[in-house]
Amino acid sequence: MTKTEPNIEKIYEENLRFWDEAWQRVAKPHKELPKLPYIHEITRKLKKFRVKRVLDLGCGSGWLSVFMSKYGFEVTGVDTSRSAIALGTAWAGEDNANVALLAGDLLNLPFGDGSFDAVICNSVLEHFRLDQAKIIFNKVHKILTTGGFFFGCFDQVGSGKGEYFELLDHTHVYTDEMRKGMMLRNYSDQELKELLANFDLLSFDKNNYGSRLVWAKKR
Ligand SMILES: C[S@@+](CC[C@H](N)C(=O)[O-])C[C@H]1O[C@@H](n2cnc3c(N)ncnc32)[C@H](O)[C@@H]1O
Repeated sequence: MTKTEPNIEKIYEENLRFWDEAWQRVAKPHKELPKLPYIHEITRKLKKFRVKRVLDLGCGSGWLSVFMSKYGFEVTGVDTSRSAIALGTAWAGEDNANVALLAGDLLNLPFGDGSFDAVICNSVLEHFRLDQAKIIFNKVHKILTTGGFFFGCFDQVGSGKGEYFELLDHTHVYTDEMRKGMMLRNYSDQELKELLANFDLLSFDKNNYGSRLVWAKKR
């Protein structure tokens, strides 16, 4: 029997609702730096590359944006959740951080060509279907200046607990209480390389948790 695709647009809306509701339950911004050894490497490398304008995709309540602004970067963050953006904006204001946080969908980024010197994306693109990730990468390529940098951390997902069903492209759609509606997809090395086909790959490393850490430069 041929497998048929459920209503993917409705599923996507439910996924956005999941993020909205998840952030509505959060009272304070996540200010503490997660113990991610590669975080300091991001600022170090981008400083070395003389980057100024940075876009943080899926910024949540802004920890990475605010952190990077302390190193002198002009940071713009985008996240679908208005609550996360409100938390992060209040924090950035109190800290006088050079950060602008916007509520919006990564599928409709409102920036013109060449608006940024670097785009960073920490554990976010796993929440998109493959066709959507292609749209986002095409846009990222456009909004980067020529020679601009992309950094992404892509977590290895799909082997943990939880109940879900699978879309045809193997995106998991969670049905259990904790993550109901959330989409999560494991990106293979081959897929990541295809998504970055218009970039020069600078490094493609795996950390101890199995996450892919990718540095790329716009041709
Ligand atoms: C796993 S969290 C990672 C947050 C942050 N980058 C970090 O490193 O802590 C994924 C983030 O992506 C956001 N997100 C999910 N789908 C999105 C979409 N379609 N457009 C914009 N942001 C989205 C969520 O609201 C959430 O803040």
